[in-house]
Amino acid sequence: MRVLVTSLKGGVGKTTTAVHLAAFLQLRGPTLLVDADPAEGALVWARQGSGLPFEVSTPEEARPKRFEHLVIDTRGHPKGKTLREYGDKADLVVVPTSPGALSLVSLEQFMSELGGLPMRALVTLVPPFPSLDGLRTLNYLRSRRLPHFRVAICRLAAYEKAVVAGTLVQNVNDPRAERAWEDYAAAGRELLELGAEG
Ligand SMILES: Nc1ncnc2c1ncn2[C@@H]1O[C@H](COP(=O)(O)OP(=O)(O)OP(=O)(O)O)[C@@H](O)[C@H]1O
Ligand SMILES: [Mg+2]
Repeated sequence: MRVLVTSLKGGVGKTTTAVHLAAFLQLRGPTLLVDADPAEGALVWARQGSGLPFEVSTPEEARPKRFEHLVIDTRGHPKGKTLREYGDKADLVVVPTSPGALSLVSLEQFMSELGGLPMRALVTLVPPFPSLDGLRTLNYLRSRRLPHFRVAICRLAAYEKAVVAGTLVQNVNDPRAERAWEDYAAAGRELLELGAEG
């Protein structure tokens, strides 16, 4: 599978999503994460600590033919050139979206920029119960008929710990580490369903 993770907004969980979807795909076959963000968030993540269980490379060094799965992480508000270069070849464009009205406005704007590319919004950074922000966001996406993942990713401190430790969220010392991974594993399974549909 080729998955492009991108969004108009910054700080919505693109790199976190790219890393954990790559980890999910790596369980099924060799996976390459291409860090197309000049800020190199994924490369920095991979370089520190215990490392990530898949290869991470710059766009220049990427040898995608050697891999079964490819995940591309971009900066917020990517250049049109980046979208064309990776979007046209992608099986799916994943657009992480945090809850909140402004996020949803930029999502709709971005979706029209993506034109006809196959895409799904992924609701991220969902505050814990009793907040209903996650459910509200999913309901909004449904009502607007915007394609989206059924799962929403919870906001959990374990993700920050994972960046600091340079590892995957399931490996950090946190009571909710496994819970955090389950969200991305569910997103990964949805990704495979889409792949199977062709
Ligand atoms: N589900 C989550 N729960 C808690 N914190 C999260 C979650 N997802 C991401 N974060 C944290 O939020 C911050 C932004 O996440 P991330 O770097 O993945 O976003 P981004 O969209 O790649 O940002 P940028 O646009 O700057 O590249 C990071 O500190 C990350 O650890
Ligand atoms: Mg990033």
